[in-house]
Amino acid sequence: MTKYSRITGTGSYLPPRRVTNADLAAELAAQGVETSDQWIVERTGIRARHFAAPGVTASDLGAQAARHALEAAQVRPQDIDLIIVATSTPDMVFPSAACILQHKLGIVGCPAFDLQAVCSGFIYALAIADSMIKTGAASKALVIGSEVFSRILDFKDRTTCVLFGDGAGAVVLEASDTPGILASDLHADGSHVGILCVPGTVSGGKVLGDPLLKMDGQAVFKLAVGVLEDAARAALDKAGRTAADIDWLIPHQANIRIMQSTAKRLKLPMDKVIVTVDQHGNTSAASIPLALDAAVRSGKIARGETLMLEGVGGGFTWGAVLLDF
Ligand code: UT7
Repeated sequence: MTKYSRITGTGSYLPPRRVTNADLAAELAAQGVETSDQWIVERTGIRARHFAAPGVTASDLGAQAARHALEAAQVRPQDIDLIIVATSTPDMVFPSAACILQHKLGIVGCPAFDLQAVCSGFIYALAIADSMIKTGAASKALVIGSEVFSRILDFKDRTTCVLFGDGAGAVVLEASDTPGILASDLHADGSHVGILCVPGTVSGGKVLGDPLLKMDGQAVFKLAVGVLEDAARAALDKAGRTAADIDWLIPHQANIRIMQSTAKRLKLPMDKVIVTVDQHGNTSAASIPLALDAAVRSGKIARGETLMLEGVGGGFTWGAVLLDF
């Protein structure tokens, strides 16, 4: 039995259209919605986000990110034996974005499925791929987070539409005798469904209910800070490590203030935290693999370093994965 799974390559993809806060504020003003670069930067740390062109789907963005990860890992698409796509904005009701993406990569036969845990989706997907590799069910997995959140934003609601962006990140996770993923910790609490949701559904040929994102930002904020600390500590305990062993914290990129609070609680300086929320906004399940890939490609993160990846989001869901890179 394989002892570990290990990330052997990372990749990401951002759609080319970059929208700064000033661009967005001007677009919103034309519809009578008032916001400003200053408010967005002060409250969230976001300066810009990317929006996909009409018709571009989560599987399109995810396939590009996957190609970059495969190249980095030097793995051929046909050698992949598991595909998990974490997304809340799939191409269709069904089949899964993972099946569509599998076909775009020219892969035939391996299991492929979507995972729905909103902004914790990549953490869930990574933990599940790790388990499948450890049980021998897979040996070379593509784990992807891909989102087109711009499709579910209410551009009349300034409390949410300034926060999110589109993009995709991917890793190749392979069976390995050396670490690897050390521990993971996953949770959900469905009693908080209403604080972050897209309540609509498709029924009888119609969209029933509201198909746009609703969020009680302050409730999400308060819950997020507490659970992110708990999940990190639980993963560290399982691996017999302490927060002092973390070289890089890669949290879900939702709000710089949540990241600062989490780092403070773990007694980590901000220069050990990977921050891309300023350039990407909140890309939900894509934010962690996007941040990971940006930091790997810029040379910040080096092989052998210890990484704490953490997600939190709708559900309510949250979790952490501790790994030696
Ligand atoms: O990915 C998963 C998770 N999502 C999150 O992690 C989001 C967590 N929550 C947050 O990041 C923050 O709660 C927000 C960024 C969403 C909001 O920040 P806040 O400091 O909690 O602001 P607030 O909701 O208390 O709003 C303060 C004021 C309000 O005006 P009044 O009532 O004080 O006059 C809002 O109407 O800011 C106003 N406001 C805005 N003003 C300009 C809200 N959105 C905007 C905006 N531009 N875009």
